Amino acid sequence: EEIHQKEYLSNGIMKQWNGDVHDVYSPVYIKKGEELKPKLIGSYPVCTEKEAQESLTSAVEAYNDGRGEWPTMSVAERIKHVEQFTRKMIATKDKVVKLIMWEIGKSHADAVKEFDRTVEYIYATIDSLKNLDRDSSKFEIAEGIAAQIRRSPLGVVLCMGPFNYPLNETFTTLIPALIMGNTILFKPPKFGTLLHYPLQEAFQESFPKGVINVIYGRGNVIIPGLMGSGKINVLTLIGSSKVANELKKQHPKVNRLRAVLGLDAKNASIITANADIDLAIKETVTGSLSFNGQRCTALKIVWVHRSNADEFINGFNKAVSELKFGLPWEEGVSLTPLPEPYKIDYLNECIADAEAKGAKVMNENGGVSKASFFFPAVVYPVTAEMKLYHEEQFGPIIPIVPFDDVEEVIQYLIDAQFGQQVSIFSRDASEVGSLIDPLVNQVSRVNINSQSQRGPDIFPFTGRKDSAEGTLSIPDAIRSFSIRSLVAFKMN
Ligand code: G3H
Repeated sequence: EEIHQKEYLSNGIMKQWNGDVHDVYSPVYIKKGEELKPKLIGSYPVCTEKEAQESLTSAVEAYNDGRGEWPTMSVAERIKHVEQFTRKMIATKDKVVKLIMWEIGKSHADAVKEFDRTVEYIYATIDSLKNLDRDSSKFEIAEGIAAQIRRSPLGVVLCMGPFNYPLNETFTTLIPALIMGNTILFKPPKFGTLLHYPLQEAFQESFPKGVINVIYGRGNVIIPGLMGSGKINVLTLIGSSKVANELKKQHPKVNRLRAVLGLDAKNASIITANADIDLAIKETVTGSLSFNGQRCTALKIVWVHRSNADEFINGFNKAVSELKFGLPWEEGVSLTPLPEPYKIDYLNECIADAEAKGAKVMNENGGVSKASFFFPAVVYPVTAEMKLYHEEQFGPIIPIVPFDDVEEVIQYLIDAQFGQQVSIFSRDASEVGSLIDPLVNQVSRVNINSQSQRGPDIFPFTGRKDSAEGTLSIPDAIRSFSIRSLVAFKMN
């Protein structure tokens, strides 16, 4: 069943759209005669600049310079609205999960996990806020001053999520931003838009007029005007550092803009001479290939001690060959179609570049593609001249670099543009101990004998250098979308 949505949510009203629409094709191809073709699954309205500006105006008016109903409401009251929304959201689970599978090709198990994890995140955020109500009578007293310490909102938040976690990554910014009293302009990702339709009604029924506005359309057409208006107080984007920098530049007073950003990463798996090779293989396969490697937290380069290179590569190739390819709803599937139509060309380009500079695809069928499927390619030996050494491939290629001294890896991390995570594999506790500080001073998370990942959500999630701005755990997100403020009383 195709979904053709002609409405977008602005100022608490679903507005009928009669203009331009964007057709959405699934990465799941269907047979048309002898040929395989992407399947049309629906369409969404393409907002004009004017429509987007109207939505911005509705968010600005609902905020009303901090005097609006929403920013002056107590946290406890706002929580009631979010709880109402979450109950309605839970009722959409089947529809949303189906759309995650069709729109971005995520397996059923992972789509369900994404949905459930998002609901858990919302309830955990609510729980952590229970003591933060502005009406609380908690005071700090010092030097004759009694102060009520609050968390106050920041204004209008422009919220943009990514295609790989269109629900979870969006809501881990949007929900804390809402609860803290900000008003929202939300643009769903280019791939992963239709799944937000069922939620649009839940937003409409749960929040006051203008508090949340959902705009659809072409980012390069509508976003510059929004940023250029100077009326966006917080930009939240999970995406690329290139786009984040462009958007920030469009804001006339960038020093007044708070940015909460989750960006690119080139996370390294480091297999030392003392590694448990079976464990390193198991963790690096899932770390690099879950959801076809399309996770900001994925392992995107593997450094292996030269003495272990052959054993690691042979075992790794075998483990890759055992992964099940299939459509998102097939049982036990882990490799699925890629949603970005241009991705396969880019992956082929990376492989051709590496081969021209002396590397080889080491596994059988590595890099073979058909329709939107791409069989993972294990590429070795990768060197500094190759794209795969520096660029975030965000897909199923595993570049492997041999090393003799772990200092080479540390220098790579020091010179790197990004700094999110590393995974280090070693059975030698003193080796691990000596590497923790040099590693954690380059990235924001060091995983010992395990793959890289985001959660649990109570842990800080951020990155160094061009990998992030701000931190997104539950308590950190609350801080990111508010300011600590005081109401102080002098006690005479
Ligand atoms: O793409 C980035 C996601 O936040 C990754 O989360 O490590 O749980 O897959 P994950």
